[in-house]
Amino acid sequence: MTAGRDSAADKAKPASSQPSPTILPNSAQQPAASTPQRQALQPLKIAVFASGSGSNFQALVEAIREQAIPAELSLLVCDKPAARVVQRAEALGVPSFLFDPKAYASREAYEEEIVGRLREEGVELIVLAGYMRLITATLVEPYYGRMINIHPALLPSFPGVRAIRQALEYGVKQTGVTVHFVDGGMDSGPIIAQRTLEVRDDDTEDSLAERVHAVEHELLPQTVRWIAEGRVTLNDRKVTIRLGD
Ligand code: GRF
Repeated sequence: MTAGRDSAADKAKPASSQPSPTILPNSAQQPAASTPQRQALQPLKIAVFASGSGSNFQALVEAIREQAIPAELSLLVCDKPAARVVQRAEALGVPSFLFDPKAYASREAYEEEIVGRLREEGVELIVLAGYMRLITATLVEPYYGRMINIHPALLPSFPGVRAIRQALEYGVKQTGVTVHFVDGGMDSGPIIAQRTLEVRDDDTEDSLAERVHAVEHELLPQTVRWIAEGRVTLNDRKVTIRLGD
């Protein structure tokens, strides 16, 4: 799921009069006012937010390093210091920002600290990959158009938690994976990329999850590559990807 929604996050939905957010480092089109302009040949600085296993985090780090994606994983942000993703980050040499939400007076308080750290690191793109916390306007507003989420179903079907189980219990024959920009709603932001896969008659939640994850591990790096190469433009809900050169 996208980390979610609350009343503050709802306010973060951009008004249609705002400039079209875009991630186009080499383009004549200007990014949203809050987006720092990036030098053409510099790698896109990314922070991944995750709370659990971190298989997508690892797949993304490895793809960036092995497939010459013009990006750099600058930071893992994690609310669960004991999560497996933290060990993966250590093993891969990626710095972590770990925090205990209970140590803060409010969600906004820790998000402000996170935003400060992201700015220090010069992070240009946030990837939510299994970050299991609600997020508010404190994060969504400054990063609208520069924050993406991976969801294990074909949105707008099966938003929220346990999407793989939801799809299985509903009885769909096809499910898939969605990567989308994050807005103030629950898995409701503009869709960047989707890939489908068949649900088999004998699938269990585990067997289906295994194939969904395999698709995620390809689609997330692919989407990050498109963004890092400046191919992705966002206009209202419509995302276009310039391919072929
Ligand atoms: C993935 O299925 C992703 O779609 C969802 O959370 C899960 C994270 O898995 N948002 P992992 O921690 O990357 O293995």
